[in-house]
Amino acid sequence: MKNIVVLVGSLRKDSINKTYTHALEKLATGQFAFHYADMDLPLYNDDLWQSPPAKVVALKEAIAKADGILIVSPEYNRSIPAVTKNAIDWASRPYGQNAWKGKAVAITGASTGSQGTAVMQSQLRSSLVILGTAVLGDPEVYITFKPEMLDADGAFANEGTVKFLKGFLDNFDAWIDRVK
Ligand SMILES: Cc1cc2nc3c(=O)[nH]c(=O)nc-3n(C[C@H](O)[C@H](O)[C@H](O)COP(=O)(O)O)c2cc1C
Repeated sequence: MKNIVVLVGSLRKDSINKTYTHALEKLATGQFAFHYADMDLPLYNDDLWQSPPAKVVALKEAIAKADGILIVSPEYNRSIPAVTKNAIDWASRPYGQNAWKGKAVAITGASTGSQGTAVMQSQLRSSLVILGTAVLGDPEVYITFKPEMLDADGAFANEGTVKFLKGFLDNFDAWIDRVK
C-alpha cells in the first residue's frame, strides 16, 4: 500500500473538497493510505525559519517520506487559493531544501462552478513543475461538485464517475512507480 500525503486547500469544516477527498479515499481503499496534512499554517514568512513552526516541519517531513502527494484544491478567483499556495511555498524552502524535488504529485479539485477548478489546476501545475515535481498529466480531473455525486455513505454514487476516478487513482499509482 502506498503512503500518500494529501493537501486539501480549504480550511472550512463543510468543504466540498474535503468531502470529495474522503470519497476518493474510500475508492483508494487497499491501494493508498491517505495522510492529511495540517493546512492551517502561518502565512509564509522567511524570518520564521530561525525557529520553524512545528506544523511546517511536519509537512516537510511528511512530503519527504511520502510515496506520492495528492493536492485537492478549490479555485479562488480563477487562481490558486492562499491556503494551497502557502503550503506549497513553505515546503519549497529554505532555499536549497525544497521538499518537492523529485516527488510524484497528482492534482485535482472541486468547485461549485462549471469549470471545476480547471484554471486553478493549470496555474498549480506550472508552479509544481518549476519545483521539480513530476505531476501526473493524464487524466485531468475537474469536478463540479453536486451533493448527489455521493451516496449516503459518502462514496461516489455514479458508476461512470467511479470508473473515471478509479482510472485516475490507478494512473497515479503507476506514475509513482515510474517516477521512483
Ligand atoms: C474567494 C472565493 C473565490 C471563488 N472563486 C471561484 C472561482 O474562481 N471558480 C469557481 O469555480 N469557484 C469559485 N468560488 C466558489 C468555490 O468553488 C466554492 O466556494 C467552493 O465550495 C470552495 O471549496 P470548499 O468548499 O472546498 O471550500 C470561489 C469562492 C470563494 C470563497
